[in-house]
Amino acid sequence: MDLFSRAQELLQQIEQFDSQNNAQAVEKFRIDYIGSKGAVKELLAELKNVPNERKREFGQLANSVKQAAEAKYIALKETLDAAPEGIANLPNDLTRPAKLHLAGARHPIAQTQREIERIFERMGFVIAEGPEIEDDWHNFTALNTPEDHPSRDMQDTFYVSMNPVTVLRSQTSTVQVRIMEQQKPPIRIISPGRVYRNETISARAHCQFHQIEGLYIAENVSFADLKQCILHFAQELFGRNTQIRLRPSYFPFTEPSAEVDISCFICGGKGCSVCKHSGWVEILGCGMVDSAVLENCGIDPEKYSGFAFGMGIERVAMLKYRINDIRLMFENDVRFLRQFG
Ligand code: DAH
Repeated sequence: MDLFSRAQELLQQIEQFDSQNNAQAVEKFRIDYIGSKGAVKELLAELKNVPNERKREFGQLANSVKQAAEAKYIALKETLDAAPEGIANLPNDLTRPAKLHLAGARHPIAQTQREIERIFERMGFVIAEGPEIEDDWHNFTALNTPEDHPSRDMQDTFYVSMNPVTVLRSQTSTVQVRIMEQQKPPIRIISPGRVYRNETISARAHCQFHQIEGLYIAENVSFADLKQCILHFAQELFGRNTQIRLRPSYFPFTEPSAEVDISCFICGGKGCSVCKHSGWVEILGCGMVDSAVLENCGIDPEKYSGFAFGMGIERVAMLKYRINDIRLMFENDVRFLRQFG
């Protein structure tokens, strides 16, 4: 390439150079073009090789390359200083509020579960988990619900197979059986987890939901211990002034059994739509573990006694956050989930 073409080429490169407003690129431009070993110096050094009659013409051309490079460098520097790297492409309004960083959030079921777990952990309960696919023994028979027992109809169960009977667990009470079979008293566990029931899906019911089961087995555990434990739990979760009310009930695995209501934390007991104007809201089922269940699990009912309770996590979450449709919990609509960030 002759020297004139080389000079033209340099001129073009200089004009088209784009640093992307990057400080390193600007510095590289300086070194490559106007530095002491840069292209402009090299070009000027060639002057001695140009035939005399063209020296003047070449000198002018080389000089304009030099000026172009210097002017370009000054312009590159100015842009860099005006908008430092990184924010090069932003409009220069630095007072603009920062862009929100959208972090994920825990699902309201997980948040509620964790809150319930923490309360019981502070009372010395430990978390125990069990499988979601269960055999007949752990879901029913050991829990004092033999095959022909009418209380099996209390829960519409999903059967995975009939022989041997395998089900999607319909309650987390299964875990109390598993733990009692494995451990010796004293036992103090809570078992959160997913359960399944063949229910028509509606605003109030779903075919999948979560429960937390509690179990305390030791010597001389009484119904008074159960009441105190539940009262403390209710006051921790719903506030210091919360009262509890126990209504006699029936569960095959507890005797006596009770359902627990809490005084309505919305209206304080005066009556509102959440408590259906009764002043009370149902929150869990509980009772003293039936001696037949203890025996089924190899624990001596003469020596040990205990209580158990079970509650629906969605139900607690719906009360706490005033959610009126359980289906929202499983649809993963971000407009719903974002409200729990
Ligand atoms: N398993 C019961 C249910 O799903 C809830 C329950 C009630 C659990 C009383 C218990 C209990 O441990 O003592 O409806």
